[in-house]
Amino acid sequence: MATNNQIDVLVYGLGAIGSFYAFILSRSPRVRLSVIARSNYEPVKAHGIVMNSENHGQHVVRPFRGKSRQSRLPEESLRLEHMVSPIAVFRSAAEANMKFDYIICTHKAIAQDAVPAQLAPVADEETTTFVIIQNGVGNEDPFRARFPKTTIISCVTWTGGVQPEPGRFAQIKSEDMQVGLFPNEAADHLVEKRRLDEFASLLTQGKTVFQVVPNIQVQRWEKVVWNAAWNSLTTLTLLDTHSWLDSSADATPLTRRLMKEVIDVAKKCNVPIEYELIDRLIAKIRALPPIGSSMQNDYKAGKPMEVDIILGTPFKKGREMGVPTPTLETIYLILAGVNLRLMKESQL
Ligand SMILES: NC(=O)c1ccc[n+]([C@@H]2O[C@H](COP(=O)([O-])OP(=O)(O)OC[C@H]3O[C@@H](n4cnc5c(N)ncnc54)[C@H](OP(=O)(O)O)[C@@H]3O)[C@@H](O)[C@H]2O)c1
Repeated sequence: MATNNQIDVLVYGLGAIGSFYAFILSRSPRVRLSVIARSNYEPVKAHGIVMNSENHGQHVVRPFRGKSRQSRLPEESLRLEHMVSPIAVFRSAAEANMKFDYIICTHKAIAQDAVPAQLAPVADEETTTFVIIQNGVGNEDPFRARFPKTTIISCVTWTGGVQPEPGRFAQIKSEDMQVGLFPNEAADHLVEKRRLDEFASLLTQGKTVFQVVPNIQVQRWEKVVWNAAWNSLTTLTLLDTHSWLDSSADATPLTRRLMKEVIDVAKKCNVPIEYELIDRLIAKIRALPPIGSSMQNDYKAGKPMEVDIILGTPFKKGREMGVPTPTLETIYLILAGVNLRLMKESQL
């Protein structure tokens, strides 16, 4: 746990989004950054995180602690890229052997229920704040169940990025995030507010685009309407968004039905989103060039997909509350079967 005004931050799940926000947070002089890396542990331990960002790409390269940077990267690339050198790189929470002020969860929301227990060694229920930066709805629930007293900050990011090779991060232009509390009735509201303000101040120092919002569930569910449609349909068809919408006269109406059913569930959960969102999201996708989706990329790479958190939770909540979701149910169950095959093949 940090002293002397320093803040100990752990990034858990060091892929594209984890690397981006590790970089953003590392810009604050108060932050002592640690990361948990899995498949990219070796390159990150050796080189830090190498950033190539369209929005932040021309900043000063931070000193590299550890092995000589010249031996690792050509000078040419140093002019173009940031390099974040985390204070510590761990393979697991158990290896870290300390408690953190903020644990930033940017792992893929797969087997989400198992993650809080894995983070128990680095979390102090009184002082740790979890920050969840993931797609999906219901992501916070396993954390609240395992750590009833902790503060949870929930975030919806529209930042686009990829990890083209382990330890390297490439950001495309889009950068935006909504941030809000997942309120804890058992906690002191002033403490929760102070932690939210402090985290927001770190994002401000990191020079990223974000807004603090009063009810983050609105943004979570709005994005899940987007993801439930485009991720699932581009994955099941292996088409881009526009090719799917133009594939038959019934493709757009089916997409709209799927979105409407997710909104029906959101409304039943008392999340105030409106049906006009469907027109907005169709117009938004039409205004973009044709795209695939992260789920389609995961499918093509044979990686497990975020099917449960994006489609499964809305379907199950709908079923619990008696909301009919025939289109969502069909698409979720077929994708869940495909996901099971992928997980068996990758022995997860
Ligand atoms: N990338 C984007 O443009 C984007 C935009 C908006 C939202 N998001 C959301 O942001 C979250 C992170 O996505 P990403 O694109 O950064 O994914 P990513 O590049 O695939 O990285 C995911 C990271 O999490 C690790 N990981 C996966 N499952 C884990 C688990 N159960 N426990 C611990 N670590 C785990 C992976 O380790 P291994 O490499 O060892 O598997 C990897 O380092 C997702 O919820 C995604 O939907 C992404």
